[in-house]
Amino acid sequence: MKIVRTIADASGLVTHDGTVGLVPTMGAFHEGHLALFRAARAENDLVVASLFVNPAQFAANEDLDTYPRDEQRDSKTAEEAGVDLLFAPETGELYPPGFQTWVEVEELGSRLEGERRPGHFRGVATICLKLFNIVRPDRAYFGQKDAQQVAVVKRMVRDLDLEVAIRVVPTVRDADGLALSSRNAYLSPKERELALALPRALATKDAAQARARLNGLDVDYVEVADFEPRVLAAALRVGKTRLIDNVVLDKEAQ
Ligand code: PAF
Repeated sequence: MKIVRTIADASGLVTHDGTVGLVPTMGAFHEGHLALFRAARAENDLVVASLFVNPAQFAANEDLDTYPRDEQRDSKTAEEAGVDLLFAPETGELYPPGFQTWVEVEELGSRLEGERRPGHFRGVATICLKLFNIVRPDRAYFGQKDAQQVAVVKRMVRDLDLEVAIRVVPTVRDADGLALSSRNAYLSPKERELALALPRALATKDAAQARARLNGLDVDYVEVADFEPRVLAAALRVGKTRLIDNVVLDKEAQ
């Protein structure tokens, strides 16, 4: 696996004589990322992963500074999972001085997570478009865990006529049901016990029942979202950690 840090090296090393799969990531790899790498490996000639903690999708009060970073471990994991090229740029490479062009997916990006994290999806959509332009993948891989991110990226692809197929990989869960997330590392054992209320509530697949089960906890929202597929989505704060999760509601889409 080659590791590259510049846009020129990334786009220069991506060959387009076969199919190219891109897995955009912010690192701190877990089984959820491995599922994305495996899906990309299974259907592409070349697999590219990006490793970039994107400052543009964090608000000032969020965990940009403390977000888990371990490039050495991540690059070993990516290589073992069959990634061919790891694009791990510095912030200034993607946001040089004077940067001022943003992608705003207006309505889809402003509700649920977008309402609680203003600017988040603007940052996500912009970095994804930049990565799509740099790598020019045939397919890009995202986890169903971030259902609204998937909806926003798919909308951007349609609206801007991008030639990339968006592949969505099912949420990977620990044995106790908690959806894998890099932020789970912040949870103490006691907080993790509390966090389990989230998958258990969502497993009811019913907004009212889920709200009842989460009663007394620090819930941001529990809502049915008309993404494709429709999901029951929720966000919960446990201590300083904010967790999101969802279950797919449409039977045929599961
Ligand atoms: O899901 C993530 O890890 C990030 O939002 C993404 C898609 C890599 C963009 O920074």
